[in-house]
Amino acid sequence: MRSFHESISRWTVALTLLCLGLVNAHSVITYPGYRGNNLHTNGTVEQTNGLGVGWENGSYVYPYGMQWIYPCGGMATSRNRTKWPVTGGAIALQPGWFRGHETAFIYINIGWGTVPPNMSNPMLSVFEITGPDNDPYPGTICLPQVPLPANTTASPGDNATIQIVEAAKHGAALYDCVDITFVEPGEAEEVTPQNCFNSSDIGFKYVFASKSLTTSGAVRLSHLGLTAVVPVLLIVMFGFLMM
Ligand SMILES: *[C@@H]1O[C@H](CO)[C@@H](O)[C@H](O)[C@H]1NC(C)=O
Ligand SMILES: *[C@@H]1O[C@H](CO)[C@@H](O)[C@H](O)[C@H]1NC(C)=O
Ligand SMILES: *[C@@H]1O[C@H](CO)[C@@H](O)[C@H](O)[C@H]1NC(C)=O
Ligand SMILES: *[C@@H]1O[C@H](CO)[C@@H](O)[C@H](O)[C@H]1NC(C)=O
Ligand SMILES: *[C@@H]1O[C@H](CO)[C@@H](O)[C@H](O)[C@H]1NC(C)=O
Ligand SMILES: *[C@@H]1O[C@H](CO)[C@@H](O)[C@H](O)[C@H]1NC(C)=O
Ligand SMILES: *[C@@H]1O[C@H](CO)[C@@H](O)[C@H](O)[C@H]1NC(C)=O
Repeated sequence: MRSFHESISRWTVALTLLCLGLVNAHSVITYPGYRGNNLHTNGTVEQTNGLGVGWENGSYVYPYGMQWIYPCGGMATSRNRTKWPVTGGAIALQPGWFRGHETAFIYINIGWGTVPPNMSNPMLSVFEITGPDNDPYPGTICLPQVPLPANTTASPGDNATIQIVEAAKHGAALYDCVDITFVEPGEAEEVTPQNCFNSSDIGFKYVFASKSLTTSGAVRLSHLGLTAVVPVLLIVMFGFLMM
């Protein structure tokens, strides 16, 4: 009975958050901010013939949802940059807005410059989160001290974009960004228990390979014939992901 009530109230919170998100532009990156509300889906897959984005009567449509579009979830570089310390700083996000994130891989990258040429600079190693279930869920995670990528530095006044990639259980990735200008520590918005906290029902896991797929594994598969090996390896890898 108690857990039934708990799950109902969690659902109420999730639904409320979702409604607020659609109406009031609630964010996914809660600290230091975000480019804008991209929790948005419009148009139909027929209109785009299956593409993630289409051009329809003078505007874009995103039949699968804006957040699936690389590199920043369908949002162009913004003018309202937020301040972030040159020494690295906090990043907080709400990972459970969509279905499919019972487990998810989170990547945090940086793109250098005002309009970055790419986002291929990881600030942290990929990590995994575990949510309460596969439906949308509320909750926030926060890493209080995300560093700049190894061997890189920034000066006050430099611009960059922080990109969060969240790969769902099924492998598809959501994108969200925040445009920053680097400042001296202390000039960025203060990090507090209100804007940087971990919700108790979201867990963290390291992602690592316990063992590479070795030749002995391949040898055992080889009697199936060369053409069979690749699909079988893919199925084996997929099996790992589904676990
Ligand atoms: C930038 O502006 C957009 C649109 O007004 C807003 O949704 C977003 O929160 C702003 N981001 C920052 C970091 O101020
Ligand atoms: C685009 O315009 C056509 C012709 O006016 C209309 O039939 C169609 O519904 C419009 N599409 C959208 C997405 O509004
Ligand atoms: C679809 O949503 C995008 C993003 O909010 C918006 O820019 C665009 O105008 C919308 N397209 C239509 C046809 O309403
Ligand atoms: C950083 O971005 C702001 C706003 O987009 C721009 O006005 C400023 O010139 C940029 N700074 C540098 C160093 O490019
Ligand atoms: C990514 O952008 C950086 C500049 O921020 C550049 O040095 C690097 O060559 C680019 N990498 C790729 C793969 O394009
Ligand atoms: C950073 O620099 C050190 C010393 O030059 C080097 O050993 C290390 O491989 C570099 N790390 C990365 C990620 O480039
Ligand atoms: C949230 O949990 C992660 C992983 O354990 C930890 O690194 C981080 O410091 C925690 N954040 C806060 C605000 O305690």
